[in-house]
Amino acid sequence: MRQTDASVAAAPRDGFSSSFGVLAATLGSAVGLGNIWKFPYLTGANGGAGFLLVYLLATLLIGLPVMITEIMLGRTAKADSVGTFKKLAPGTPWWLIGGFGVLAAFLIMAFYSEVAAWVLAYVFKSLAGSALSSDPAHTSAAFDQLIHDPLQSLLWQWAVLVLIGGILLLGVSKGIEAVTKKLMPLLFILLVVVGVRSLLLPGADAGLRFLFQPDFSKISSGVVLTAMGLAFFKLSIGMGTMLTYGSYFRDDQNIPATALRVMSADLLVSMLAGIAIFPAVFAFGFAPAAGPSLLFITIPAVFAQMPFGGLFMVVFFVLTAIAATGAMLSILEVPVSVLSERLGWSRAQATVCTLLALALIGASAALSNSVLADFKWFGMTMFDLFDALTSNVLLPLGGILLCLFTGWVWGPRRFADALSNGGTLANRRLLAALFLVTRWVSPLLILVVMLKGLGAF
Ligand code: PHE
Repeated sequence: MRQTDASVAAAPRDGFSSSFGVLAATLGSAVGLGNIWKFPYLTGANGGAGFLLVYLLATLLIGLPVMITEIMLGRTAKADSVGTFKKLAPGTPWWLIGGFGVLAAFLIMAFYSEVAAWVLAYVFKSLAGSALSSDPAHTSAAFDQLIHDPLQSLLWQWAVLVLIGGILLLGVSKGIEAVTKKLMPLLFILLVVVGVRSLLLPGADAGLRFLFQPDFSKISSGVVLTAMGLAFFKLSIGMGTMLTYGSYFRDDQNIPATALRVMSADLLVSMLAGIAIFPAVFAFGFAPAAGPSLLFITIPAVFAQMPFGGLFMVVFFVLTAIAATGAMLSILEVPVSVLSERLGWSRAQATVCTLLALALIGASAALSNSVLADFKWFGMTMFDLFDALTSNVLLPLGGILLCLFTGWVWGPRRFADALSNGGTLANRRLLAALFLVTRWVSPLLILVVMLKGLGAF
């Protein structure tokens, strides 16, 4: 499990042991509530196929290059996300990329843990059989009852934080990763099953048209920014997660190929979630633009139409919770590794402090649908603000800075050297093109989309 690189021989770090392990762990970070919850709800709220198309373009032109660069920097420095820049560019302010990343990690966890809380609550609701229904009024009421109750919202969030804390403190995250690895294919299969059921519902074709027939009149600069933000969020990039995971990559791992595989698998899971949800949305007469509740009101309706639907629903939410756990562990890895490697705290100390801080900040997101519903900044509840601020500002900003660092400071020679594994991979041409994209195309695109989407011009 130890890295053997001579430059870090003095302080060996844990690393991924096999090439498949690397792929699985990276995918474990990428696949999560972003696929099952966020992708469908944003696609529904932003007009369907047109949004999907922009999201695909953003993933290819921006997401993939940023992901490759981020992993590369992490593997080269073999340090946490702040330490990486202190090592690669000592005495410069580039380490701020890592600093923004820690902030983003906190804000993402603040609302992500609440969505995970809903998933956990739904595991129990499905066990009790109280959520299964194909009556839209009933499934919406069941969800509203949960999120409008401040005590339940808080307690389920704390349950999530305690669970995650337990996993980290017991040092079993490796074990959890192993379990996640085995269960991911199950989630995939279940999504296919639900998708097929959903497609067989009368009126399902309207859902397919919504998902695959673009209506370009619905694409505004705000929609483009949201799609780009989703691409960052989905691939766990722009905040140091991939950088930190990159620091555990093996030196002989083919980074561009791994990133391409992770991106493709991640897109596939999102598409499956979309196909499971949208045909049902239209068949049952739900509103595609229902927002964050979409998953929770639609899925019970599909399961209500299936034999053993109750049982399947329990399994569905358990698998979703497990996918969310892999993602949350990777988000927390950013502040925990910075606190322990920069400030010399023990990992246990770093974990406990991070989670306590999260319980505080997270409460404002947890209560956003109840007692704090009227407490708004920039017209948004704290839940929505944390979500928008991270996906639409902090992650893209991190992306721009990562590209600029690589394109203008790191330079083409070291870029080619690092990504060809010192010349052992025959990918020179590809890397030359990728470097130009990283230096010019991605940062400019991100900047324009961000400024335009935020209404700067
Ligand atoms: N990619 C994860 C998901 O889709 C969320 C995430 C964002 C994880 C940022 C790590 C960093 O659920």
